[in-house]
Amino acid sequence: MRYALISDIHANQPALEAVLADIASRPDVGATYHLGDLVGYAPFPDQVVATLQRAAIAGVAGNYDSTVATGYKHCGCRYEDPQQEALSHLSYQWTLAHVSADTKRYLGGLPFRIDLRPLGGHAAGPTVILLHGNQVLNTVYVFEERPDEFLEKMADAAGAKRGDVICFGHTHKPWHRVVRGVHFVNTGSVGRPKDGDWRAGYVLLSVDQMAIAAEFVRVEYDLETVAQAILASELPDEFAAQLRTGG
Ligand SMILES: [Fe+2]
Repeated sequence: MRYALISDIHANQPALEAVLADIASRPDVGATYHLGDLVGYAPFPDQVVATLQRAAIAGVAGNYDSTVATGYKHCGCRYEDPQQEALSHLSYQWTLAHVSADTKRYLGGLPFRIDLRPLGGHAAGPTVILLHGNQVLNTVYVFEERPDEFLEKMADAAGAKRGDVICFGHTHKPWHRVVRGVHFVNTGSVGRPKDGDWRAGYVLLSVDQMAIAAEFVRVEYDLETVAQAILASELPDEFAAQLRTGG
């Protein structure tokens, strides 16, 4: 079974369209799921949600999705400095004010976690767990630098056994590690990468009887359209610059 996992789209409609076209060109992909953070930072939140609904792509709630849906006081994001914090609040206020009632309802209905059984639930086999942050909160950042003990605790708390896969996003940086036989796959970000590569990122996860493989894919997209739309909106211009540099 081969899955396409897309995360942290963040209202970047051109990036989402490019990624979905890339997935559509791969006939071996059996299913596509999103790992949350559909909105925020760019001016196409309703379009992104409508596109996912049209394509019947299920997924989990990111911190941005659940805070916008509930009208929370902030997006639950982490800030490196006061300037970043101020920009982040502007993004959140803009998004709260601009998403439609339908979009809010859809975001509020997203599940926190989805478990997949690629080889069937009638027999023992790997479980693929889809989250946004970690198994307790969608605001927790699971960075690649986390020590083995952190990931072992995460696997135990999530109920993951040897051979299972835990997939998540939130940090906007892709990585794959195996700790005590459990795979940890961070999908990176479709619409707001922070690893220095401006291209949209997603993961192809392959699971069969013998092996688990994660392939990180990068796709060029129409960056100017979203950059110009950010500049033309009341969103901070800095968000366009961040997209150009890949964070
Ligand atoms: Fe995010």
